[in-house]
Amino acid sequence: MRWTVTSTHPGAAPGDLLVYPVFRKDQAADLRPLLADLGGGKAKRGGGRPDLKAVVARAGFTAKAESTLAVHCEDLKAGWVLLVGMGPAAEVGLEGIRKAAGAAAKQGRSMDAARILVAVPGAGDINFDDQTFGRSWAEGAELALSPVGELKTGPRSAPKPTSWSLIAGTGRHRDLRAGLAEARALTAGTLFARRLVNLPPNHLTPADLAAHARRLARAEGMSCRVLGVPELKKLKMGGILGVGQGSVNPPRLIVLEYKGSRRKNALRIALVGKGVTFDSGGISLKPGQGMEEMKCDMAGAAGVMGAALTIARLQLPVNLQVVVPAAENMPDGRAVKPADVITMASGKTVEVLNTDAEGRLILADALWYAGRSKPDHVIDMATLTGACVVALGKHFAGMLGNSGELMDAIKQAGGETFERVWPLPLVDEHKEMMKGTWSDLQNLGGGREGGALTAAAFLAAFVDDKTSWSHLDIAGPAYSTSDSATSPKGGTGFGARLLARTVQILVG
Ligand code: BES
Ligand code: MN
Ligand code: ZN
Repeated sequence: MRWTVTSTHPGAAPGDLLVYPVFRKDQAADLRPLLADLGGGKAKRGGGRPDLKAVVARAGFTAKAESTLAVHCEDLKAGWVLLVGMGPAAEVGLEGIRKAAGAAAKQGRSMDAARILVAVPGAGDINFDDQTFGRSWAEGAELALSPVGELKTGPRSAPKPTSWSLIAGTGRHRDLRAGLAEARALTAGTLFARRLVNLPPNHLTPADLAAHARRLARAEGMSCRVLGVPELKKLKMGGILGVGQGSVNPPRLIVLEYKGSRRKNALRIALVGKGVTFDSGGISLKPGQGMEEMKCDMAGAAGVMGAALTIARLQLPVNLQVVVPAAENMPDGRAVKPADVITMASGKTVEVLNTDAEGRLILADALWYAGRSKPDHVIDMATLTGACVVALGKHFAGMLGNSGELMDAIKQAGGETFERVWPLPLVDEHKEMMKGTWSDLQNLGGGREGGALTAAAFLAAFVDDKTSWSHLDIAGPAYSTSDSATSPKGGTGFGARLLARTVQILVG
């Protein structure tokens, strides 16, 4: 969708739908300011304009958040006005703006509106500056209408609007445009991640994921290195090789690098994302019911790649390394078995007690790889455990780590992007539980108890104690089986904006 800013009068601007954010019930019930705006005083008495006050009262529109009401107004160039409830201004947060924009976007789409106008709220109506409003509004609309059904051959869902125009006085255009530019970078990352998660596993093998990374690197001016099986063998990456050995689609290690600063002391951040393109469980096979959801097991990879896209577009002054271990976890005569002991790139030995605890095995090698260049911060993101979904549900990622500074930044970022994280404990008792009987470590400890915590404790064994590190378990929020205000069902793209914002906070 195209986004522009204009100062044409709302009543005279060309378009198919004028969106009017409304904050208060009295504002909805008594739309004098709106009427004055719309008619510009030129409306014919008793002309095409409906008695909005009566219509609004009749429809029971109270400006409640996410409610909408479309009213036809003939003396309005756009023909239709869409009142969008924002809720009380004091309670509107960034996500409130996104959701309202999402509701307006969906309503606009269902009305076949190609060109949508938005009357930007005045400074007195809302507690956010124009840049933030513009950014959040465009984010919400783009995310709500994010494409689905890429592989359908027939007519797709209704075509979406082609253009949006934000209406405000010329003095406000610069800030609004800056917000729109930010939104473009932010949503591109999230939409990239959603698209990859939604691709079926036969369309997104580890090699395909690597091809997407290469294309991304070329488009955004990053470098990309892909290690295949021979190179993985050279690095003795027994975790990635072990998980991948049961599949006809061999594993990869994908490394993207973005150089955003030439300064010697520029911040160096590594993002590591779990890229299991399909998780059948392997020999410890999962039950068939719902197994198709395990195409989402590369959502961490998609999220960190999406974050890299956004970070590159925003030209953040950081040197970023993205490391994605990619493998397909399948049962096979050659597959890794429970009781196998594998040797990881770090040299540590691991007994595989359950082949379905594969994420930590590939991440261990990737974390070791990322740690080699001694980054200032390492964040890994993974659909790691069902236990995390049991603990925190679908709306929070579990966050563990060894650095308060880093976790504070992630927490703040999540509050802003509404990709919320919740802290979970990483303690020696759990690290102890991951120690092996026949090997240094085992990939399972404590059975079902604290499964998200022991998984993170396993990862900690592959991170230098002195490196600031955090692990995000996104098994809950990465994928949804129902539509939400700003995400159609399927991959949510969780983490792309979160990590881009985190990096932005860290570079200050
Ligand atoms: N990919 C799964 C975790 C998962 C669960 C992701 C639900 C998304 C939604 C992971 O590889 C897994 O299978 N974990 C096991 C670990 C167990 C064997 C210790 C689990 O959570 O059951
Ligand atoms: Mn698994
Ligand atoms: Zn998995």
